[in-house]
Amino acid sequence: MPDSAIRLIGTSKRLARTTIIESRFIHSVYPSKTKEQGRKLPMSESTEKTITVCQVADLEPGQVKVVEHEGEPIAVFNCDGELYAIEDRCSHDDGPLADGTLDQADCIVECPRHGSLFDLKTGKPKTLPAFQPVRTFPVSISNDEVILEV
Ligand code: FES
Repeated sequence: MPDSAIRLIGTSKRLARTTIIESRFIHSVYPSKTKEQGRKLPMSESTEKTITVCQVADLEPGQVKVVEHEGEPIAVFNCDGELYAIEDRCSHDDGPLADGTLDQADCIVECPRHGSLFDLKTGKPKTLPAFQPVRTFPVSISNDEVILEV
Protein backbone atom coordinates (compact mmCIF):
# COMPACT_ATOMS: atom_id res chain seq x y z
CA MET A 1 0.00 0.00 0.00
CA PRO A 2 1.52 3.37 -0.96
CA ASP A 3 1.92 6.13 1.62
CA SER A 4 -0.97 8.01 0.13
CA ALA A 5 -3.34 5.16 0.93
CA ILE A 6 -3.11 5.77 4.65
CA ARG A 7 -4.13 9.38 4.11
CA LEU A 8 -7.55 8.21 3.05
CA ILE A 9 -8.42 6.90 6.48
CA GLY A 10 -10.35 9.28 8.73
CA THR A 11 -8.69 11.18 11.56
CA SER A 12 -9.15 10.58 15.23
CA LYS A 13 -8.17 13.02 17.95
CA ARG A 14 -8.10 10.36 20.60
CA LEU A 15 -5.06 8.14 20.62
CA ALA A 16 -5.40 4.39 20.61
CA ARG A 17 -2.52 2.73 22.43
CA THR A 18 -1.42 -0.79 21.71
CA THR A 19 1.59 -2.54 23.14
CA ILE A 20 3.31 -5.15 21.02
CA ILE A 21 5.84 -7.58 22.39
CA GLU A 22 9.03 -7.19 20.39
CA SER A 23 10.33 -10.74 20.44
CA ARG A 24 7.69 -12.00 18.02
CA PHE A 25 8.51 -9.43 15.36
CA ILE A 26 12.25 -8.76 15.24
CA HIS A 27 14.13 -9.54 12.06
CA SER A 28 17.89 -9.24 11.73
CA VAL A 29 18.76 -7.59 8.45
CA TYR A 30 22.31 -6.32 8.92
CA PRO A 31 25.43 -7.69 10.60
CA SER A 32 25.99 -6.06 13.97
CA LYS A 33 29.13 -4.12 13.03
CA THR A 34 28.42 -1.18 15.28
CA LYS A 35 28.10 -3.29 18.42
CA GLU A 36 31.26 -5.25 17.65
CA GLN A 37 33.16 -2.00 17.29
CA GLY A 38 31.92 -0.91 20.69
CA ARG A 39 30.85 2.47 19.38
CA LYS A 40 28.05 4.23 21.20
CA LEU A 41 25.32 5.16 18.76
CA PRO A 42 24.14 8.75 18.53
CA MET A 43 20.44 9.45 18.66
CA SER A 44 18.44 8.57 15.55
CA GLU A 45 21.14 6.42 13.94
CA SER A 46 19.75 3.17 12.64
CA THR A 47 21.28 -0.12 13.70
CA GLU A 48 20.83 -3.73 12.70
CA LYS A 49 17.26 -4.58 13.58
CA THR A 50 13.79 -3.88 12.37
CA ILE A 51 10.52 -4.45 14.15
CA THR A 52 7.24 -5.02 12.38
CA VAL A 53 4.90 -2.77 14.31
CA CYS A 54 1.57 -3.63 12.68
CA GLN A 55 -0.35 -3.56 9.44
CA VAL A 56 -0.62 -0.07 7.95
CA ALA A 57 -4.41 -0.24 8.22
CA ASP A 58 -4.10 -0.75 11.98
CA LEU A 59 -2.36 2.58 12.57
CA GLU A 60 -4.77 5.25 11.43
CA PRO A 61 -4.06 8.98 11.51
CA GLY A 62 -4.16 10.19 15.09
CA GLN A 63 -3.28 6.81 16.52
CA VAL A 64 -0.13 5.54 18.20
CA LYS A 65 1.28 2.09 18.86
CA VAL A 66 3.94 1.23 21.40
CA VAL A 67 6.55 -1.47 20.87
CA GLU A 68 9.36 -2.50 23.18
CA HIS A 69 12.99 -2.88 22.22
CA GLU A 70 15.42 -4.16 24.85
CA GLY A 71 12.94 -3.15 27.53
CA GLU A 72 12.56 0.40 26.23
CA PRO A 73 9.19 1.56 24.89
CA ILE A 74 9.05 3.23 21.48
CA ALA A 75 5.93 5.06 20.33
CA VAL A 76 5.01 5.00 16.64
CA PHE A 77 2.62 7.80 15.72
CA ASN A 78 0.54 8.34 12.63
CA CYS A 79 0.38 12.12 12.37
CA ASP A 80 -2.06 12.99 9.60
CA GLY A 81 -0.72 10.19 7.41
CA GLU A 82 2.96 10.59 8.24
CA LEU A 83 4.65 8.06 10.51
CA TYR A 84 7.06 9.04 13.28
CA ALA A 85 8.70 7.00 16.03
CA ILE A 86 10.08 8.41 19.26
CA GLU A 87 11.22 7.10 22.59
CA ASP A 88 8.08 6.66 24.72
CA ARG A 89 9.69 8.17 27.78
CA CYS A 90 9.72 11.90 28.37
CA SER A 91 13.20 13.30 28.91
CA HIS A 92 11.95 15.35 31.87
CA ASP A 93 10.59 12.68 34.19
CA ASP A 94 9.76 9.55 32.17
CA GLY A 95 6.20 10.48 31.22
CA PRO A 96 4.61 8.09 28.68
CA LEU A 97 4.46 10.27 25.56
CA ALA A 98 2.18 7.82 23.73
CA ASP A 99 -0.49 8.69 26.29
CA GLY A 100 -0.19 12.40 25.51
CA THR A 101 -2.33 14.57 23.28
CA LEU A 102 -1.27 14.55 19.63
CA ASP A 103 -1.51 17.76 17.60
CA GLN A 104 -1.73 16.46 14.05
CA ALA A 105 -1.48 19.90 12.48
CA ASP A 106 2.10 20.34 13.72
CA CYS A 107 3.00 16.72 14.64
CA ILE A 108 3.59 17.61 18.27
CA VAL A 109 2.73 15.49 21.29
CA GLU A 110 2.10 16.87 24.76
CA CYS A 111 3.58 14.93 27.64
CA PRO A 112 0.71 13.81 29.88
CA ARG A 113 2.67 14.43 33.07
CA HIS A 114 3.83 18.06 33.04
CA GLY A 115 2.89 19.27 29.59
CA SER A 116 6.13 19.61 27.63
CA LEU A 117 5.51 19.62 23.90
CA PHE A 118 7.71 17.37 21.73
CA ASP A 119 8.26 17.63 17.98
CA LEU A 120 7.73 14.13 16.57
CA LYS A 121 10.03 14.86 13.63
CA THR A 122 13.07 15.77 15.71
CA GLY A 123 12.33 14.51 19.22
CA LYS A 124 13.17 17.96 20.57
CA PRO A 125 11.06 19.57 23.26
CA LYS A 126 9.41 22.83 22.29
CA THR A 127 8.45 23.83 25.83
CA LEU A 128 9.71 23.34 29.37
CA PRO A 129 10.06 21.61 31.74
CA ALA A 130 11.71 19.11 29.38
CA PHE A 131 14.83 20.55 27.74
CA GLN A 132 16.54 17.46 26.33
CA PRO A 133 15.34 15.61 23.22
CA VAL A 134 13.97 12.10 23.15
CA ARG A 135 15.35 9.59 20.66
CA THR A 136 13.79 9.27 17.25
CA PHE A 137 13.76 6.18 15.05
CA PRO A 138 13.33 5.61 11.30
CA VAL A 139 9.93 4.19 10.41
CA SER A 140 8.69 3.10 7.00
CA ILE A 141 6.07 1.03 5.20
CA SER A 142 6.87 -2.23 3.45
CA ASN A 143 4.39 -4.78 2.13
CA ASP A 144 1.52 -3.05 3.95
CA GLU A 145 3.40 -3.27 7.24
CA VAL A 146 4.77 -0.50 9.46
CA ILE A 147 8.49 -1.18 9.94
CA LEU A 148 10.56 0.37 12.71
CA GLU A 149 14.38 0.48 12.65
CA VAL A 150 16.00 0.20 16.06
S1 FES B 1 7.50 13.95 32.54
FE1 FES B 1 7.13 14.95 30.65
S2 FES B 1 7.09 17.05 31.11
FE2 FES B 1 7.53 16.07 33.01
